Amino acid sequence: MINFMKSKMNNFSYSDWNTYFKQNDEHRLVIPFENDTLTEGEKKLIFPSICQFERGEHSDGKHLIRVADIFAGKIHNEDYKYCIRRFIKEENAHSGYLKQYMDHYNVQAKETVILDRIFRQLRKLAGLRCEVIVLVTAEMIALSYYDALKNATKSTALKAICCQMLHDEIPHVMFQSYTLSHFKNTFYIELIRRTLMMAASAATWISCYKVFASAGWTFKKFVGANFYYLSHSMKLSAD
Ligand SMILES: [Fe+2]
Ligand SMILES: [Fe+2]
Repeated sequence: MINFMKSKMNNFSYSDWNTYFKQNDEHRLVIPFENDTLTEGEKKLIFPSICQFERGEHSDGKHLIRVADIFAGKIHNEDYKYCIRRFIKEENAHSGYLKQYMDHYNVQAKETVILDRIFRQLRKLAGLRCEVIVLVTAEMIALSYYDALKNATKSTALKAICCQMLHDEIPHVMFQSYTLSHFKNTFYIELIRRTLMMAASAATWISCYKVFASAGWTFKKFVGANFYYLSHSMKLSAD
């Protein structure tokens, strides 16, 4: 598990986040495919969940941009508009890494992933806070997934992708938690976040448990890691 509570990024303003996203975009991963090989058993193990996450990382971001622009107007902060556009670009880069990996092994992308569709519908139920709560829940689960996937494979290309994802997703959780700190934190919001995390963790485990199990993760460890990240996010959101 990764402790990000002491990161200096937790003191970032949206201007700082905008600079961060801009600089991070200048250092995109070049996937080291040289001599990368996978056995048929490894392919069967990893690609179902990789296809699922490839869909989840991809977004046109239309609804997010619309509600983010409204929020930026309310808090009189134009930087947030740029942050969110750079954030969406970064998420699509993540989807691109996984797609490159799938293409390398001639794996077809999935048109529809049920869990992804549920997440997308939930995100659009209300305004920015709803969107960000759902997004950050998925990102915290992604931290656990890429952490496990990195150890479930011997593929150097996939390990490099997982490390890049972890490098980028940790700041995303801090960034979204900072946005949530602009809203009033209530008992009901925390209850919703905990309930959503439990439901999303259970659904992810059902569809991806083979990857977690092969990396030595139990359901207890998976849920424990997700709630560890959630407790950090809620602390940052309450500041
Ligand atoms: Fe991502
Ligand atoms: Fe993310």
